[in-house]
Amino acid sequence: MNELQNQIIELKKKKNAVLLAHYYQRPEIQEIADYVGDSLGLSQEAKKTDADIILFAGVHFMAETAKILNPSKRVLLPDLEAGCSLAESCPPSAFEKFIQAHPDHLVITYVNCSAEIKALSHIVCTSSNAEKIVRSVPEDTPIIFAPDKNLGRHIIQKTGRNMILWDGSCVVHEAFSLDKLIDLYKQHSDAEIIAHPESESHILKTANFIGSTAEMIKYVGESPNNKFIIATEAGILHKMQQEVPQKILIPAPTNENNTCACSECGFMKMNTLQKVYDCLLNESPEIELPEKLIKKALVPIERMLELSK
Ligand code: 13P
Ligand code: SF4
Repeated sequence: MNELQNQIIELKKKKNAVLLAHYYQRPEIQEIADYVGDSLGLSQEAKKTDADIILFAGVHFMAETAKILNPSKRVLLPDLEAGCSLAESCPPSAFEKFIQAHPDHLVITYVNCSAEIKALSHIVCTSSNAEKIVRSVPEDTPIIFAPDKNLGRHIIQKTGRNMILWDGSCVVHEAFSLDKLIDLYKQHSDAEIIAHPESESHILKTANFIGSTAEMIKYVGESPNNKFIIATEAGILHKMQQEVPQKILIPAPTNENNTCACSECGFMKMNTLQKVYDCLLNESPEIELPEKLIKKALVPIERMLELSK
């Protein structure tokens, strides 16, 4: 532990704060987190915490979800600019019109969206429960699925359900290059390819396993294979490698335009150790939401948590 990490640990104790971190966070933040997980795990953890302060090392929609689940608690996010390309791809006014144009459809939204979008939804889902949530809806019910079209297509393929998709996507997961992936696989044909469902369908078609970040880590631990090509944000490699120190993990390559050889989420990486410290010390920036919005957005999140038990 370095000095700053020790200072954050001290401050957490003093202020009765819990630090929740996503797998894409910088390793030095993950190391001092009380819980590291995927979106579902993080919202379940946020719901059950008895801490006074939730310090969220993730992106804005994740901290917002924690606030919706804990309106009486203070929820801090080290950088309020830590957004998400998927959440940004679905503006509330346009989405409201989309819903109005399909009044007989039930609205299922991927958790990577704003509180306003959640408030317009029947059920929220994450990448680890999307299939289960969609299957929980009666088979003849038409569904609007938003905002991720890649996850949506993957779920249609798995369930055969009648779903219309919002045209949103994640820049990080659309950065993978199929040609380079094929070249890499030719050099490592003993590897299994594993991918996050936000990846495009041509990448998903190559994958031996598709799942959320937590599911990918579990899969790598349980598979008898020793080598994996990982198609998701590179931050996952930290925790994954700790879980399987003896296995070889290779990040999936991205296209030419991407500056990093692996795919990195610039939003997730906005949180630094220094910002985590400053945020806890100053108890700012803080997530604040109107009470009415919290009440509306809570309903579809609670439905999801209930169905995920
Ligand atoms: P997970 O819920 O699988 O961790 O995904 C979150 C995310 O933002 C993926 O890009
Ligand atoms: Fe959003 Fe993509 Fe970053 Fe996940 S990786 S937070 S979906 S931009």
